[in-house]
Amino acid sequence: MAAEAKQTCYEGCAVDSFQFYLERSGEHAAVLKGVQNLLPEEYKRIGAGKTSLDVLGVGSGGGEMDVQLLSLLKSTFPTVPITSCIVEGSSSLTDNFKALVAKTAELQSIPFSWHIMHSEDYEKQVKAKGDIKKFDFIHMIQMIYYVDDLQETIKFFQSLLKKNGRLMIVVESANSGWDILWKTYKKELCVGSIQEYRSSGEVVACLKSLGLKYEEHLIPQSFDITDCFDPSSEPGARLASFMTGTDRFHESFSLEIRAGMLDLLRNKCSTEKDGRVFFNGNMSCILIHA
Ligand SMILES: C[S@@+](CC[C@H](N)C(=O)[O-])C[C@H]1O[C@@H](n2cnc3c(N)ncnc32)[C@H](O)[C@@H]1O
Repeated sequence: MAAEAKQTCYEGCAVDSFQFYLERSGEHAAVLKGVQNLLPEEYKRIGAGKTSLDVLGVGSGGGEMDVQLLSLLKSTFPTVPITSCIVEGSSSLTDNFKALVAKTAELQSIPFSWHIMHSEDYEKQVKAKGDIKKFDFIHMIQMIYYVDDLQETIKFFQSLLKKNGRLMIVVESANSGWDILWKTYKKELCVGSIQEYRSSGEVVACLKSLGLKYEEHLIPQSFDITDCFDPSSEPGARLASFMTGTDRFHESFSLEIRAGMLDLLRNKCSTEKDGRVFFNGNMSCILIHA
């Protein structure tokens, strides 16, 4: 199967690289701040008059964001029973997620069902069973890059929404540093787990072509990539490796390509302040209606 051949799900050193990136970038804090501004009102609309709430997380990784989203939902509707279903292809990140749930007191009343598989396989399984479980809130945070077919994935998960439900997609923004880097160096970068780079521009174009109602909100984010420009810096090489989707930045590209990428990172994808280089890691939170 194509998804397995591409190995989109994080295992082994991809997990370490992702954890390192999360620590250096502060991405989770930025996503949390962005969604905390939006979700309290959104949750009230989603849950109005309901006697139970079902949540689906797709590509949840270690669950750090899920735990926050569920805790917020629980505090909005303290007496309404909530269930949580997770579709995540990485077994090691799912183990981390389970450990996090076990130590989070607010979540002890929420039953979890775990589907350790690609979203494409979940879709096949649901369709084959015929008994289609629907959800009030579905989220896909920083994972849409990895699905085989963008349009099919959005269409399928949107079709799982209950009345007043929302599908939330968090994705790198059009014209962010990520979008500029990955589109300029498409030939060199789109050869591994990401074969077709997508920013919010592609997601929004897809929503328009499907005729779905949505709102897009900016999640501002930037992080210090100064170390990437020091060829002897190990953390700089690790960060550049994650940002280019490679195991080892210095060994993966020719000197000329590396120099071009670093020049682009500094001059087109970042701003400089007090001698430090800050990468534009802006994201979008797209809320799609049922
Ligand atoms: C960048 S991480 C984001 C994880 C988490 N949402 C977060 O924000 O911390 C992408 C996640 O998507 C998972 N993933 C990639 N392709 C997938 C697929 N087709 N179906 C389900 N999960 C997938 C990876 O294993 C990884 O956990």
